[in-house]
Amino acid sequence: MQQSFDQYLQEKIDIIEGHLVPALEKEGVPARLYESMSYSLMAGGKRLRPVLVLAVLEALDKPLERGIPYAVALEMIHTYSLVHDDLPAMDDDALRRGKPTNHIVFGEATAILAGDALLTRAFGYIAESYGQHPEVSPATTVSLIAELGKRAGARGMVGGQMADIEGEGRQLSLAELEYIHEHKTGDLLVAALRGGGLLGEATEEQLDALNRYGHCIGLGFQIQDDILNVEGDAQLLGKAVGSDADRQKATYPSLQGLEYSKTHLDRLITEAKDVLIAAKLAHPGLMQLADYVKERTK
Ligand code: IPE
Ligand code: IPE
Ligand code: MG
Ligand code: MG
Repeated sequence: MQQSFDQYLQEKIDIIEGHLVPALEKEGVPARLYESMSYSLMAGGKRLRPVLVLAVLEALDKPLERGIPYAVALEMIHTYSLVHDDLPAMDDDALRRGKPTNHIVFGEATAILAGDALLTRAFGYIAESYGQHPEVSPATTVSLIAELGKRAGARGMVGGQMADIEGEGRQLSLAELEYIHEHKTGDLLVAALRGGGLLGEATEEQLDALNRYGHCIGLGFQIQDDILNVEGDAQLLGKAVGSDADRQKATYPSLQGLEYSKTHLDRLITEAKDVLIAAKLAHPGLMQLADYVKERTK
């Protein structure tokens, strides 16, 4: 990957990471809960969802500062989902982002509560940050909350996680597998893109294009996740590999084979970029982020 894109990514990550912990309320929060929340929030991670928010604002030629609270809220929701996903009752994983998982360090009860608190704080933070914002109207703020609620909830990410768990240990159809991928992974990426679009005053047509781009990179992201679980490097990934096979999970490679999965991933990324070009949103950041989804090794 080119040096300049790495720098672009790092610059955005630095902005976001500077705002993550300050967005947590410290005062009045039990110390152990605060520690557990900030542990997972600052454990690293690619920060793809918040970077997408900022990249959309750039593509729309709007100040990216406007996207920071929404980007931070998304990363809180993503982090909560990982803390809960790793719990013994779910995937029972001990390593995340190269570090011991939250429940290994703080215990299950605290990990559950830290997840609950990150999820709740995300919505509170959006309301507080945009409530008095000079550039973001109350109507836009309500739309952001609705967008995030829909994509993160039972019809979105959580629904996808439910289907994922119900599908363990049995053969799934491709349609069932794509439903899981679209919701458990794609929906939060779509929320990042559409939220960025709402904040950047995108037209309906542009919002649709961002949605389709998100759908393509979301499915692509999860296909690459499945591929990396087969042939990735656990050290680089910061989480276990081979776990899908151990858990008899239906994945893109297990259903369609590795070669087909890679070809399909290529197709999805090409389509994502074509959608941007057609909608006149082909900003280098968003274009290169599509390639990054395919080329990532962690
Ligand atoms: C992991 O997401 C969970 C999936 C939806 C596949 P990421 O791969 O974006 O995780 P981090 O944030 O970089 O740790
Ligand atoms: C996580 O999916 C999706 C969430 C919404 C948390 P996985 O369970 O497949 O992802 P990893 O492999 O633990 O990151
Ligand atoms: Mg899982
Ligand atoms: Mg998992």
